[in-house]
Amino acid sequence: MSQYPKAFIYDLDGVITDTAEFHFLAWQKLAEGIDITIDRQFNEQLKGISRLESLERILALEPSMLSLSSDEKQRLANQKNNHYLELVESVNTDDILPGIEQLLRENKEHQMKIALGSASNNAKNIVDRLGLTHYFDYIVDASQVKKGKPDPETFTTAADFLGVPYEECIGIEDAEAGVEAINGAFMFSVGVGAVEQLAQADYLVANTSELVFDEIIKRYIEKRTIS
Ligand code: BG6
Ligand code: MG
Repeated sequence: MSQYPKAFIYDLDGVITDTAEFHFLAWQKLAEGIDITIDRQFNEQLKGISRLESLERILALEPSMLSLSSDEKQRLANQKNNHYLELVESVNTDDILPGIEQLLRENKEHQMKIALGSASNNAKNIVDRLGLTHYFDYIVDASQVKKGKPDPETFTTAADFLGVPYEECIGIEDAEAGVEAINGAFMFSVGVGAVEQLAQADYLVANTSELVFDEIIKRYIEKRTIS
């Protein structure tokens, strides 16, 4: 039992619910309005990245846009967020991705701590809409960190609050930047998605329905036994 991890730290967008898709749609609409085209492949590098940094990466596709003032950039970022907020208006308890609530329940049954480690300023709002707030011992959102993903700060902030050594935490992510952040914190990383983006994950599954508690624990113990 002592080999068991003590905490699970979940990313939100794209792991707990499919709001990653709403972020993409909102960015795509914003980009269209300024004559920039972005596709899903480009969007992979926006996953896990803060709002303003994402905007910078989109503007970099059109060099004339880089000279925009910071007020103008802020205005564009607000515009994207307003559209995103319209899209998430319909989010409710039916939008929890398969396997997630079962995993949260099993974390609780095994007396593990649970945190959220999100780059989003909207994280608390979304978790509330999903009816999942009561599961979380702590929520880290964009307002609590100086350095966003891929810096490990989001995950170390959560673990520090929970009082759990980093090596005894499991982080779950759908973004390349997120897996890098978990690995940088020396936690065990579970990637949800494609090997093209998430090859660095300690354990990779294709979608959330494959997030099975016993299997994750088995992989965690195997890695800790080897290292
Ligand atoms: C991350 C998403 O969770 O949050 C990114 O993966 C998003 O796509 C980032 O840009 C910031 O979100 P928000 O809600 O603060 O604009
Ligand atoms: Mg994500």
